[in-house]
Amino acid sequence: MAVVARTDLAFQQCVAPSCAATFGVEEVLTACPVCGSLLDVAYDWNRLRPPTSFEVFERKWMRRGDPLAFSGVWRFHEFLPYAPRESVVTIGEGQTLLAVSDGVGAYVGMRPGRLHLQYEGLNPSGSFKDNGMCAAFTHARMIGARRAACASTGNTSASLAVYCAVTRLMRGIIFIGSGKISYGKLSQALDYGALTIQIAGDFDDAMARVKEVSGRLGIYLVNSVNPFRLEGQKTIMYRVLEALGWEVPEWIVVPGGNLGNSSAFGKAFAELKALGLIQRVPRLAVINAAGANTLHELYTRRGLRWGGGRADLAPACHYYDELDRDKRRADTIASAIEINRPVNLTKCLRALETCDGVVREVSEQEILDAKAQVGAGGLGCEPASAASVAGARQLVAEGVIGRDERVVCILTGHQLKDPTATVAYHTTDQKLFNEVLGSRGVSRASHANRAVSVGNRIDEIVQAIDLYG
Ligand code: F0G
Repeated sequence: MAVVARTDLAFQQCVAPSCAATFGVEEVLTACPVCGSLLDVAYDWNRLRPPTSFEVFERKWMRRGDPLAFSGVWRFHEFLPYAPRESVVTIGEGQTLLAVSDGVGAYVGMRPGRLHLQYEGLNPSGSFKDNGMCAAFTHARMIGARRAACASTGNTSASLAVYCAVTRLMRGIIFIGSGKISYGKLSQALDYGALTIQIAGDFDDAMARVKEVSGRLGIYLVNSVNPFRLEGQKTIMYRVLEALGWEVPEWIVVPGGNLGNSSAFGKAFAELKALGLIQRVPRLAVINAAGANTLHELYTRRGLRWGGGRADLAPACHYYDELDRDKRRADTIASAIEINRPVNLTKCLRALETCDGVVREVSEQEILDAKAQVGAGGLGCEPASAASVAGARQLVAEGVIGRDERVVCILTGHQLKDPTATVAYHTTDQKLFNEVLGSRGVSRASHANRAVSVGNRIDEIVQAIDLYG
């Protein structure tokens, strides 16, 4: 494993500018062996000669019989050209939707036509993770891996499990914290046949263990410390641009957990700008749940910045020490983002610098109210996804986002991922409400759509319908 001047078209590179060591794409790495920082997949764009206009991608719409043109990820293969065509793994991911929602827009405080929802729940496993999983599987196939593992709050594991089940390329092993995963997501991993290891701990513990175990046993790790995974997640932004006629919106708003998405989005825009395909980048808003708010704490309160790659990470180390000292654990109804030690922190700081970003935190109440509004607008989502909408609302109220600006909120996961939170919000059963939500400080369900209980009698049923109008 040597640090060499690269002659290859695609390679891995340490994100720390002071190190910038490079490695071949055939190496399996989750951190820089020289300095321990995260790695990027980097390209020699001068020699690769990527498209000089976006039209080439539109032409692929006519070739939907070709799996690589059909995939919403591999349609953009020219922007993630680390694998030969024959190694590419696809199960039809990325058939997602960008929808204008005036209902949700009004809730957020935007003028009509300005709020867009990028609905990633339409992916094969019901979340955005499939964008990255097909990219990681492609790399795994290139290097001949036979087993893959991840730690997960539920969606990465569902995605890993479905790619294993469909492609039969690898055996899937997933690590989850005990009692920390919604049934919708757990049921996917079990149904698709992945080895499911429930460890006594939370996501942060599971993440630490899976890194150790996969290193020791030589198992391919598909968490977002795997730089190839994030290459796939860049394509969410390409599809957003595609749906907007290749115009750059003013804002991208995304929930922040392990910070893979935000990191990937920043890289996508930095590359497009460097290639001259866009003239400006959008602003990026990353939204934490208040119960898992490391990024907000470090970025907004303690002023941690990328600083052109010279980030002093001491505040992060201090913060993690404080968490340990006070035995504070991430805790939120948005279980997908219940993470206190985001593995992509530095890359996300870089993305925030690229995109003049902001970070906010939203309460459980704000998340659930926003989620109900998203559902009422017709695109249901899980609690973590609604953090983006709740965050956008906060930023409009602050005047940071203008009511006329074009905003894209990423809905990261499908509504059916976590039915417990949804039913508890809409329920008439006070005990259930208290158990699931009241215990988390949620005091009201202002946007609840309550079921109406009637006797088994026509007149009562008719009366209920009449009252509904
Ligand atoms: N939204 C959903 C629905 C998620 O599942 C996740 C992450 C995020 C947002 C946060 O994205 O990590 O890129 O900042 N879920 C991971 C998992 C951690 O294991 O499924 P991020």
